[in-house]
Amino acid sequence: MYVTADALRGLLYVPGPMATEFISKTKRTHSCGALRASDIGKEVVLFGWVQNRRDHGGLIFIDLRDRDGLTQIVFGPELAAEAHTLAERFRSEWVIGIRGTVRSRGMQWSKKENKEVPATNPNLATGEIEVVVLEATVFNKAQTPPFEISEHTSANEEIRLAHRYLDLRRPTLQRTIMTRSKLNAATRQYFVDNGFLELETPFMGRYTPGGARNFLVPSRLNPGNFYALAESPQLYKQLFMVAGFDKYFQIVKCFRDEDLRLDRQPEFTQIDVEMSFVAQDDIFAVIEGLLKKLWKEVHGIDLPTPFRRMDFDESMARYGNDKPDLRFALEHTQLNDVIAKFGSDGGVGPMWDSVQQKGLVKALVVPAKHALSRSEIDKLEEYVKGMGAGGLARAKLADNGDWTQAPLFKNAKPELKAAILEATGAKNGDLLLFQFGKPSQVHTIMANLRVHLAKKLGLIPEFGTKDGQWNFLWVVNPPLFEYDEDAKTWAAAHHAFTRPMDECLKYLEPESFDPAKVYCYRYDVVLNGFEIGGGSIRLHDPEVQSKVFKAMGISDEDARSKFGFLLDALKYGAPPHGGIALGMDRLAFLITQTESLRDVIPFPKTQKGTDLMTGAPGEVDEKQLRDLYVKSVPPAK
Ligand code: AMO
Repeated sequence: MYVTADALRGLLYVPGPMATEFISKTKRTHSCGALRASDIGKEVVLFGWVQNRRDHGGLIFIDLRDRDGLTQIVFGPELAAEAHTLAERFRSEWVIGIRGTVRSRGMQWSKKENKEVPATNPNLATGEIEVVVLEATVFNKAQTPPFEISEHTSANEEIRLAHRYLDLRRPTLQRTIMTRSKLNAATRQYFVDNGFLELETPFMGRYTPGGARNFLVPSRLNPGNFYALAESPQLYKQLFMVAGFDKYFQIVKCFRDEDLRLDRQPEFTQIDVEMSFVAQDDIFAVIEGLLKKLWKEVHGIDLPTPFRRMDFDESMARYGNDKPDLRFALEHTQLNDVIAKFGSDGGVGPMWDSVQQKGLVKALVVPAKHALSRSEIDKLEEYVKGMGAGGLARAKLADNGDWTQAPLFKNAKPELKAAILEATGAKNGDLLLFQFGKPSQVHTIMANLRVHLAKKLGLIPEFGTKDGQWNFLWVVNPPLFEYDEDAKTWAAAHHAFTRPMDECLKYLEPESFDPAKVYCYRYDVVLNGFEIGGGSIRLHDPEVQSKVFKAMGISDEDARSKFGFLLDALKYGAPPHGGIALGMDRLAFLITQTESLRDVIPFPKTQKGTDLMTGAPGEVDEKQLRDLYVKSVPPAK
């Protein structure tokens, strides 16, 4: 009867009260992905979007879509004339409701097999059935979308981001966003089951120096003062431990005004954790348990635990960074000792100079089976120059062992060459690539070169190709301090509240002061070359704390003005504690094997930090700024 009324509105159909009545009187019985052969004969009600319409010899076939899948529905002039008349007008993305009967898809003529075959669609979960419509209504018409709502699309990302609500209708994004919901639910369940409390912390806090650059929020009620948006709940979660809550977790938004990359968004989500009375191993066990549960939930696989561990120094030496992708080799070899052994007699002046100036010399072997042409190697040189390298020293080992394409080694002593071969394990036919110079630069260039080569040589899958190889690693025992060349002081490599290892405390004493030798209880968890989480055991002892600050040239006064409330709190009986934060967006991006963080964040920002749909960030008027005691100054030219 609803059909009759709606159909009577004729060609100028406008959704009206009848459609609403359809919802209240005719309840949805199934989603569009639910029906199977076992449902044949049932009367059902489905709601959804028109994916497409096909007219075949009087019958109209429509794929009806909702977040759960597609169901083929059939309108026939003899089956239900009014519904059929209405269906003739349906277009893509109209929102409709139908009542009908489930039937088998029956048989169809196969030209290939020259006989009747079942008309099932094996690619569709509902592919064995179709629904013959008895009644239908239109809830809403739709304009033609700017791009097709389909699994794959060639529409450019800008158009899709500007109409994100349509992009989110595509099955690809529906799946990743629903997986994310599953990750949230499983995470909460896991922590609650393990006795953790979900506690909230403020987003608007006081600006504290160090760490990432903060977004600032002007305070109208306190002219000239600003809140900082929390880059993480770090200080608050430590205060929860002081307050005695023992085990805390939160799935929480964090805000950082950083340059954006494939794996960075200005607002992102952490699974944040803090625990009292724990050692590093306890935290590892909790996080391994969580990741195990998440992979089981999403992929049905059992991750082997415990994860492998590697010292920070080893990771830097072999891979050039603290987040190595262990799915492939192409390891680095440090050659400082070899070069130093021969000194100026070695015949490779620039490398020896570098060693004398506290530089670093590294090599990487490309095995003969991945033979690269001279022009390909030149392209690699362009690539490293793009990162600030002076060039890419190389040596191609001929089949007879000669060093070819190796001008740097023209005068090299044969013994030195032999020592390089021994250290790197390079064999005839292999290619040796070298970098030397400032250690941090050599590490970074060689780390990026390693990954670049691996992609080029097909050793790791491109993003989004669903290879499903999960290589987890804990990177542990990093140095607490790093030397800041510009400021000529030691600074905290991560943050000042990380606990040094007991055996290193002596290097904070005046008589044996050597900050470079102070290692600490900090750890990162890495998956396939991405840092998915990081944390530390905290420094809860005020005496050691003061020594750490001193090593960094921070006076007690300075420390008070910067971290006063935390220092106070630690004096009132702080338990030993430690924690970690996992990047939820990175986890979701890796677990769904998609191409960028934007594939797992419903409303993401672009690389420039803009939202193409809402137009954020946008201008505000003068009066609003005046109310906030803020003046906008154009960028310097
Ligand atoms: P950290 O700064 O290492 O530690 O951050 C923890 C994890 O958060 C993720 N992450 C990001 N993800 C997306 N976009 C970003 N801009 C971004 N920045 C960080 C990463 C990272 O490993 N308070 C400490 C944790 C602790 O010590 O307990 C912290 O925030 O996956």
